[in-house]
Amino acid sequence: SAATLGGYADFMAKEIAEQPEAIERLLAGRLDERGIKLDELSMSEEDLAAIDRVYLIACGTSYHVSLIARTLVQTWAKVPVICEYASEFNYEQDVLVTPHTLCVIITQSGETADTLTAARRMRGMGCKVFAITNVLGSSAARESDGVLYVQAGPEVCVASTKAYTAQMVAGALFALRLAQAQGQMEPDEVERHYRDLCSLPDLIREVIARSWQDKRAAAVFRRAHSALFLGRGVNSTTAYEGALKLKEISYLHAEAYPAGEMKHGPIALLEPGFPVVAIVPADAVHDKTVSNIQEVIARGAVCVAVATDGDEDVASLVEHVLWIPPVADELLVPIVAVVHLQVLARYVARMRGCDVDKPRNLAKSVTVE
Ligand code: G6P
Repeated sequence: SAATLGGYADFMAKEIAEQPEAIERLLAGRLDERGIKLDELSMSEEDLAAIDRVYLIACGTSYHVSLIARTLVQTWAKVPVICEYASEFNYEQDVLVTPHTLCVIITQSGETADTLTAARRMRGMGCKVFAITNVLGSSAARESDGVLYVQAGPEVCVASTKAYTAQMVAGALFALRLAQAQGQMEPDEVERHYRDLCSLPDLIREVIARSWQDKRAAAVFRRAHSALFLGRGVNSTTAYEGALKLKEISYLHAEAYPAGEMKHGPIALLEPGFPVVAIVPADAVHDKTVSNIQEVIARGAVCVAVATDGDEDVASLVEHVLWIPPVADELLVPIVAVVHLQVLARYVARMRGCDVDKPRNLAKSVTVE
């Protein structure tokens, strides 16, 4: 059935609101007495245990999912991961596959031409391909050895929101399943991580309830020509995704950098009034990012920060705080924090008179290489 707006102003607003339920659907029934259930992988325990390398291949927002999944797979399963943009991978001469390499393609639509070409190339080299997709019966689903449907429901807005967060959760399930098969995680640890994942929907609901914070902060971008997004660790990816959302739908130039790299270039852009969005949750790299915020502010830039409830240090420094509730596992913060950046991008786009669902020049799925 065709998706309808159901009272929302646009599909982006509707799809942002649907994120908690999408993640609940994906997580339901995924833990039993043997641990994480991911039968969609269609691989024996023995084959899973033998995997010694994972290629994650995707485009656009789905590529950002791969960056988060890489950290989760490497941290939890201790298997080395290579992330590739499909459009780059397809023209690389040497592909470093081992006899036990698994390729995972991540594609909301399941129809992105570059991603499909990459999957065919991998299968041609004898590599098993597993697809994470949102579309039943899509080309990616049909052409892969195993497929996990994230079941986020039809995504109409060109800029991806609910598929992004659901795909990150799918990546987490895959990482846990692999960790288990590789003997890297005790059952109680697997269960604890699963519970952490199950806490995400309510945390996202809480962020959505705080949309007024994003609405207020949007004013910072009214006359801006450019914006810089900064984050560290897993939240450098949150910065990339926040900048992508902003430029896609508001046509405001936005660039994202790992915060520690700011001094090697982007700091030259800073001048009074320049907007900087810093993702600075309560985590192991918090204080390092706070130093970057101080450098930004010393140059007169206007800082909007995503920070964890109670962080008075950040609140006293910046113009606006987009507050997130505490997240048990800091590796899962990107799944919560990005929701503020989705809502922020939407408010900025609306303020600037843009059509948030159908940005110019972009297509929902790109079926040409
Ligand atoms: C297009 C869309 C993006 C999307 C990308 C990859 O560029 O506008 O939102 O992230 O394709 O799409 P996929 O369906 O493969 O995830």
